[in-house]
Amino acid sequence: MAETENNQQQGLQEHRVFNPPADFAANAAISGMDAYDKLCAEAANDYEGFWARLARENIAWHKPFTQTLDESNAPFYKWFADGQLNASYNCLDRNLENGNADKTAIIFEADDGQVTRATYRELHERVCKFANGLKSRGIKKGDRVIIYMSMSIEGVAAMQACARIGATHSVVFGGFSAKSLQERIIDAGAVAIITADEQMRGGKSLPLKSIVDEALAMGGCDTIKDVIVYKRTGGNIAFQEGRDLWLHELVDGQAAQCEPEWVDAEHPLFILYTSGSTGTPKGVQHSTGGYLLWSALTMKWTFDIKPDDVYWCTADIGWVTGHTYICYGPLAVGATQIIFEGVPTFPHAGRFWETIAKHKVSIFYTAPTAIRSLIKMSNADEKVHPKSFDLSSLRLLGTVGEPINPEAWMWYYKNVGNERCPIVDTFWQTETGGHMITPLPGATPMVPGSCTLPLPGIMAAIVDEAGHDVPNGNGGILVVKRPWPSMIRTIWNNPDRFRSAYYPDELGGKYYLAGDGAIRNKDTGYFTITGRIDDVLNVSGHRMGTMEIESALVAHPAVAEAAVVGKPDETTGEAVCAFVVLKQARPTGDEAKALALELRNWVGKEIGPIAKPKEIRFGDNLPKTRSGKIMRRLLRVLAKGEVITQDVSTLENPAILEQLKESA
Ligand code: WTA
Repeated sequence: MAETENNQQQGLQEHRVFNPPADFAANAAISGMDAYDKLCAEAANDYEGFWARLARENIAWHKPFTQTLDESNAPFYKWFADGQLNASYNCLDRNLENGNADKTAIIFEADDGQVTRATYRELHERVCKFANGLKSRGIKKGDRVIIYMSMSIEGVAAMQACARIGATHSVVFGGFSAKSLQERIIDAGAVAIITADEQMRGGKSLPLKSIVDEALAMGGCDTIKDVIVYKRTGGNIAFQEGRDLWLHELVDGQAAQCEPEWVDAEHPLFILYTSGSTGTPKGVQHSTGGYLLWSALTMKWTFDIKPDDVYWCTADIGWVTGHTYICYGPLAVGATQIIFEGVPTFPHAGRFWETIAKHKVSIFYTAPTAIRSLIKMSNADEKVHPKSFDLSSLRLLGTVGEPINPEAWMWYYKNVGNERCPIVDTFWQTETGGHMITPLPGATPMVPGSCTLPLPGIMAAIVDEAGHDVPNGNGGILVVKRPWPSMIRTIWNNPDRFRSAYYPDELGGKYYLAGDGAIRNKDTGYFTITGRIDDVLNVSGHRMGTMEIESALVAHPAVAEAAVVGKPDETTGEAVCAFVVLKQARPTGDEAKALALELRNWVGKEIGPIAKPKEIRFGDNLPKTRSGKIMRRLLRVLAKGEVITQDVSTLENPAILEQLKESA
C-alpha cells in the first residue's frame, strides 16, 4: 500500500505538464483536445449511436448487427448481439483483402537474437493449417482449448486458430505451476492443450510439456483428449501415444484455406484466469465482437498506429496485455509488430534498447517494473544505458500494469523518448478488455504518474462506498457507470461471483467496480490510481491474490496459519511478505532460513515462481482481535518496517508484534 500512497502523493503534487509535440498532434488519429471532447460529447449525446458507428467502421461483420446494447439482463450486458463475425477473419483475411498481404505481420526476435518474420499472407496460411489441424482432431466451436506456450509466432497462431474455428481459448502463462495449470484445465473443462516442448528464456531452456504431463497426472482432467506440442528446442520430452502429437505433424498436409466459423458477437472468444479476493482464480470471459472492436480502436486511439509503424508490446501472451495488444489489436489494424521471446536482461540489460534500434521500433509498450529495473542497471553500466543506442525510430512510448512513479516516468521520457515521444500511461484490467483511462498521444497534456482521462465512451467516475459521486480532489472508489463493448461478460461457470464481484448491491448494482482506488485532480479532473482496494497484490505488474498465496502456504504440512500482505518494493512495486505460524515451535536462525527457503519453493510449486514470497516471518501466532480476526493493517505496517502507531488495544496478543518484526 505504502508505495501506492506514496505514488499518489507524488502524483498529486506533480505540477510538471508535458504537451504532445505539435507535429505528433498534427498527424494523430485524435488530434488535439477538441477532437477528444467532440468524441466524448458524441458518446454523451447518443451512447448507443456512438458505439454502433464505431463498430460498423472498425469491424468487418459477416452479418450486420441491428441491436447495439441489450441491457435487459443487466449486469449481463450484450453488445451487437445479433451480429456475426469472426475474429481471425478480421485479423488476417481482411488484411489480405486490403493490400497488406505482403506486409510483415510479425517479426519474431528469439531469445538468442535470431529473427524470423511472417507476412500477413504467411500468417494467414499458418493459422488456416493450424485451424484445419484442430478440426481434424474433432475440436469445434464452443470447445475450450488451453494454450500453455512460450512467446512465439506459434503461440499467436494457436490463439488465432482457435478463434477461427470458434473454439474458446484460455491461455495459461508459462510461468504458472502444474497445479495452477491443472486447476484451470478443470475449471474450463478444456478438450485440448497446445504447448511447446520447452521455452527459451535468458539462454536457458525451461520446461513446458513436462509441466503439462505433471498437471494431467494430478487427475481430474479427463476432458483433455489431445496435447499438441510445438517443437521449440528439441529437448527431451515424454510422449504419450494417442494423446500427444507434434504440431508440425498435425499441420502437415492440411489445406491452406479454412473457412472461418461465423460466431455471434457475444460468442466467448477467450477465458483468461486472473486473481481476485478469494483463493481461486476467476475465469474472466470475453466476447468476440465488443472485445475485437475495442482492441482495434484503442490501437488507433491510444497508440495512434500508422501503416509504417513498427510496434512492440513486451507483454507475454499469458496476460491480457498480450491478448489485446499482441494477438488481436495489432493484427486487426494490420500493424507490423515484434514478438519477443526473451527477457530484458539477456544477454545484457540493454536488450530492449538494442532491439528497438535493430528493428527500428516506433511504438514501444512495456511495464513500469521493467523500466525501474533497467534504470538501476543502466546507472551501473553505461554500455546498457538507452543513450548508448540509436533510439531515433521511436515516436511513442507506453506503460501498463501498475502505477508508474513520476521519477521513472521522467527517466523513460528523457532517456528512452529523448523528450520527443509522448508516453501513454494506460490504466486497464483483464476485465476491461482494453485501455480505459489513458492520455491520447496527440491530444492530452501529460502529467507524470497520472493516467489522465478516460477514453471517449468510457464513463469512469469516482464514488464513495454508497455509490455517490465524490468531488474532484477527494479519493474514492473507481467505477465505470455505463457498460462498454469490451467489458468482461461473466466469470466462467460462476455468474453469481461475477455479479457480486463487479456489480455489488452496495453500489446500487449498476456500476462496474474496478477494485482500484483513485483520485481526480481538483483542477484538471485527471485520474491518479491509488492502488487496489481489495486483497489483490501487484508484483511486477503481475496480479496475485493474497488468499491464493495463503492457501498455498497452509497446504504445506508444517504450516498452521499464514497471512500475506504487500510490501512496497522499489523495483517490483509491491513484494509478497508472508507471516507464518508453524505447527511446530517457531524456528530461529539457520533453521528459520532453511524453512523459509522451503516455503518459498513450495509456493513456487503450488502457484508459480512469480508468487514466491520475497520475505517470510515466523511467529507463534498472528496479531488478532479478541474475536480472532487477523489485523492485516498491522501486518502491513510491520512489513514496511515501520513503528506501529495505531491503537493496538483491541489486540488479543500484542506481544506477538515484536516477534514478527524480523524476517527469516
Ligand atoms: C493495475 C493489466 C496504475 C490496477 C492490464 C488494475 C494500473 C490492475 C495501471 C489490473 C496503470 C494496471 N496505473 N495501475 N496504468 N494498469 N494497473 O488485470 O491495479 O493484470 O486493477 O491487467 O493493475 O491488472 P491486470
